[in-house]
Amino acid sequence: MRVAVIDGRCMPGDEAKLSVFDRGFLFGDSAFETLRTYRREPFELDAHLERMGRSLEALAFPIAVPADALREDLHVALSTVDHGESWIRLYLSRGEGPPGLDPADAKEPSRVVLVDALRTPSVESYLRGVRVRCIETVRAADALASAKLTNYVASMLATREARRHGDDEALIVDRSGRVIEGATQNVFVVRPGGVLTTPPVDVGVLDGITRRIVLELARESRLRVELTAHTPAELCDAEEVFLTSSLRELVAVSHVDGVPLRSSPGPLTRTLHDAFRRRVGIPPVPYS
Ligand SMILES: Cc1ncc(COP(=O)(O)O)c(C=O)c1O
Repeated sequence: MRVAVIDGRCMPGDEAKLSVFDRGFLFGDSAFETLRTYRREPFELDAHLERMGRSLEALAFPIAVPADALREDLHVALSTVDHGESWIRLYLSRGEGPPGLDPADAKEPSRVVLVDALRTPSVESYLRGVRVRCIETVRAADALASAKLTNYVASMLATREARRHGDDEALIVDRSGRVIEGATQNVFVVRPGGVLTTPPVDVGVLDGITRRIVLELARESRLRVELTAHTPAELCDAEEVFLTSSLRELVAVSHVDGVPLRSSPGPLTRTLHDAFRRRVGIPPVPYS
């Protein structure tokens, strides 16, 4: 059962509508967050609201995140649904306005919370890993990449290209030829020698909430960690590669551009995923 709460009004998701003059629709003048519940509680809601605040700053919104209202909307939505775990989307747009660019013409921001039943990767895809294709692309809002804005067109086309090759996911390669993140995931690499790496946020990637937790878990386990980005050839030569996101947690990469990796899922991927599952309080993936 899908549920929407628009500006505080709860309704069935299929009946929810925004104006065609909403600036999110007209210009992508909006920010969003995707998260999930564990044991029916939103996971890391504060961190998502905080990141949404940074997205609004990037968009020069005149308001701060209406955190209390979003929490209340989410509470109403979650108490309306009758499924198990939920997928959640929080969305704020600058609101309706005439179809001109000047944001000063916008009226009130629009606030939307969507809740649906959660779909997570299958156990098989955790056990098998995913095939990725490295795609060089320039994202429309690269300068604002650490904000979560509703413009994923370049990433959508990269995903389409990856799927045309028979792969599952696209990895984004920047102009300097380095893999910086996935279309909707952060990327981690275990280099020969066992150093865990992930690109620093300032190369133009989303400051992933799962990425942060994985970095914390890695430091707690005293792994050697470096913030750096690698080329596709270095990924092919890596010990392990995995992707992270709120909906996928950690997913191993099995092939990069058709080249099978040494191990998938590798030992560090499994260890860190086990630690992640302990942190969120659900049973581990049966890796062994
Ligand atoms: C571009 C991009 N990178 C990384 C992520 C992973 O972020 P998080 O772990 O906060 O879900 C996402 C999530 O949607 C994303 O869109």
